[in-house]
Amino acid sequence: MKEKINQLIEQATQRIKESQDVNSINDLKVQYLGKAGEITALLKGMKDVPNEQKPEIGKYVNKARDTITDLIQAKMNELQQKAMNAKMMKEQIDITYDEKDATRGSLHPCTLVIDEVLDIFTGMGFTVANGPEIEMDKFNFQLLNIPKDHPSRDMQDTFYAGEDLLLRTQTSAVQARTMINTKPPIKLVCPGKVYRPDYDATHSPMFQQIEGLVVDKHVTLCDLKGLLELFAQKLFNEKTKVRFRPSYFPFTEPSVEVDVTCSVCHGVGCRICKGTGWIEILGAGVVNPKVLDSCGIDSTKYSGLAFGLGVERIAMIKYGIPDIRILFENDSRFLKSFK
Ligand code: DAH
Repeated sequence: MKEKINQLIEQATQRIKESQDVNSINDLKVQYLGKAGEITALLKGMKDVPNEQKPEIGKYVNKARDTITDLIQAKMNELQQKAMNAKMMKEQIDITYDEKDATRGSLHPCTLVIDEVLDIFTGMGFTVANGPEIEMDKFNFQLLNIPKDHPSRDMQDTFYAGEDLLLRTQTSAVQARTMINTKPPIKLVCPGKVYRPDYDATHSPMFQQIEGLVVDKHVTLCDLKGLLELFAQKLFNEKTKVRFRPSYFPFTEPSVEVDVTCSVCHGVGCRICKGTGWIEILGAGVVNPKVLDSCGIDSTKYSGLAFGLGVERIAMIKYGIPDIRILFENDSRFLKSFK
């Protein structure tokens, strides 16, 4: 019996040693230690061993089982370690690799402007709102005091996807959407793409706007001026001054165009500001009470102020870009300069 066990250990040791992969080691484990395995058979055969030999042979069989278990485990560890090392060698990173030639992206100048403007307004307690680019006529026009057939629609003709569905022409649509669903106080900014039938050096059929809206008790044109002056000083520099020129928008009364002192010549007059010292940056006004009322806000209790700026226009002023189309051509030499 002992002789048989010795042979078994010898044979198992040899075969374990020769194993080259985890699968074959698993097979050996089954062959020797599994339910129908050879060691298991020896243990089962103990019942036929004469009683006086049982303690000694029993010990011997147990020792054989432990030896083979240890050998299998050790070989298994060795093979797993080997496999792990091979995997790590395959996946290792060449830290001497020169990435000079790899192309690395950068933020588009319009994205830089949007981030900066939103940062300034959220710093003043505004929340950021969003609305759909395919908009309903009522939000883009009607609730903003631009009924069907109103002449001001001419300047904002657009693509229609049905009688009442259109590509929005202004982020002001989000004002109406918000006012209808929210109780004042409201303080929001809304960035997004808008669409118009224009195309020249300063206009593009798709461009981006940022809308601002404040609705609360006792907000006035003076608040609007203070707010926009602070904004302009943060966006350009702290010496920037703001002036209001009378204008017209159906959704504000009074309405203004807002100019800032030229950040290049500081108001003296240069090529950028066409010699005037001033640059127009946005449209704004006190929300027309008709708009508040049609959006379900009591205009005898609340007032509002609103503004809308063109992102590309701000980018052109800030970075001295002469033609809006450069912003959409994706010329990598131009885009790289914003890294
Ligand atoms: N929606 C206007 C435009 O696209 C810009 C604007 C002007 C927005 C005055 C406003 C505002 O909220 O009060 O030309």
